Amino acid sequence: MTEGLLSAAYIIAAILFILSLGGLSNQESARRGNVYGMIGMLIAVAATVLSAQVSSYGVLSVAIVIGAIIGTVVAMKVEMTGMPQLIAMLHSFVGLAAMLVGFSSYLDPASHFDGVEKTIHNVEIYLGILIGAVTFTGSVIAFGKLQGIIGSKPLLLPARHWLNLTLGLVSIWLVFEFIHADSVASGMIPLVIMMIIALLFGIHMVMSIGGADMPVVVSMLNSYSGWAAVATGFMLSNDLLIITGALVGSSGAILSYIMCRAMNRSFISVIAGGFGTVAVSVTSGNEEVQGEVIRITAEETAQEFQDAKSVIIVPGYGMAVAQAQHLVSEITKKLRDKNITVRFGIHPVAGRLPGHMNVLLAEAKVPYDIVYEMDELNDDFPETDVVLVIGANDIVNPGAQDDPSSPIAGMPVLEVWKAKKVIVMKRSMAAGYAGVDNPLFYKENTGMLFGDAKESVETILANI
Ligand code: TAP
Repeated sequence: MTEGLLSAAYIIAAILFILSLGGLSNQESARRGNVYGMIGMLIAVAATVLSAQVSSYGVLSVAIVIGAIIGTVVAMKVEMTGMPQLIAMLHSFVGLAAMLVGFSSYLDPASHFDGVEKTIHNVEIYLGILIGAVTFTGSVIAFGKLQGIIGSKPLLLPARHWLNLTLGLVSIWLVFEFIHADSVASGMIPLVIMMIIALLFGIHMVMSIGGADMPVVVSMLNSYSGWAAVATGFMLSNDLLIITGALVGSSGAILSYIMCRAMNRSFISVIAGGFGTVAVSVTSGNEEVQGEVIRITAEETAQEFQDAKSVIIVPGYGMAVAQAQHLVSEITKKLRDKNITVRFGIHPVAGRLPGHMNVLLAEAKVPYDIVYEMDELNDDFPETDVVLVIGANDIVNPGAQDDPSSPIAGMPVLEVWKAKKVIVMKRSMAAGYAGVDNPLFYKENTGMLFGDAKESVETILANI
């Protein structure tokens, strides 16, 4: 493929990626956005494979076939609840790739640069490996936390901010050592030391973030993986990687900002590793029960619904686990047929992925115009007859407002307890992702409907 054709293919792919992002910003156009993204990626991969830079197809074909098989099997098998872990894993691959490209670029005898060009190339390599290493270990730890292999409580090392600062300063000093090294062998020493520091920093950064702040971490690592791709693009002089990486990096950064606003956290404090978590107790999840809980049956819940004029349904991670969205959609239809107003209240960090609940409700064909964001609905709870909390916990925890010692203190929540009646569906009294006890369960107007959400919803449906 000629250089001209290659550039044209890259430009078309870049435009398709931009259209894809535009499409993904809205539920109605998200499917179209995905299609644009897939076509863009197909063009990008095909053009790269056919470009003059590829000299041998043997190894490349084997790698593509192996990668395609693993990708297809994993994508077919993954449950919706496992998506965040899969995404964290994929981010770690981008980080690992940036590190490997960095080292191979540095060791490649064919890449001859002199003077300023050499310095620029070396800085690109240094940054590529640095961002790649942080992304790699950070994503692996995020995978562990999301999978439940690593506990969600923040690791708060003493003097951790000083530790971060020292690691940062040492990395800055090492870049000068690296640039001024007089041979490849002597340059490898600062490069490898920096890589080890960056790998440790990635582990420390994510380990020190508490469960409730994980949404910010997921989107932040998304952003880092984009910048790692940008660095790789500079090292390989590949314009499309630079553009695509910048799109991922900046959209991830915007998402992190949105997540921070949703959690009422400052971005810097989250990425610096739990600033503000010092004075916070993370034991509240283990505290003794604070009162009596009132149980309610699925049959009584069905009756509450039929006596109501207005209902708000608040879904959370448990709805995704139970895969109850289709039955919830059927209940919605039945209630609306009886002229009962039904709306959905979606917290920005409900579930385990940005937009998790919106995707599930869209899949179950719940009309978009009855799905509201938290801010649009929070004032309406006092006038609502029944709120059904289905598999949600942290996002409806009044402790976020009332208990300054709570790890989720300050996080905006759906104020469901202000409704006339709240019904909470979950299997036990277990805490949510942040590991915090929830006073909502002990309120007088709360009825606890214990059991798997899908089974409970089935019984309610049968009784309406
Ligand atoms: P959680 O606070 O995690 O609560 C989910 C509840 O669902 C649990 O208490 C669980 O209680 C219940 N549950 C699980 N399986 C169930 C089933 N089959 N049937 C019925 N109930 C079931 O979820 P949330 O309220 O959606 O809040 C999200 C949390 O995840 C926040 O802390 C957020 O910061 C964090 N997080 C979010 C994201 C993003 S981007 N959204 C990413 C990472 C972390 P039982 O075990 O008693 O059933």
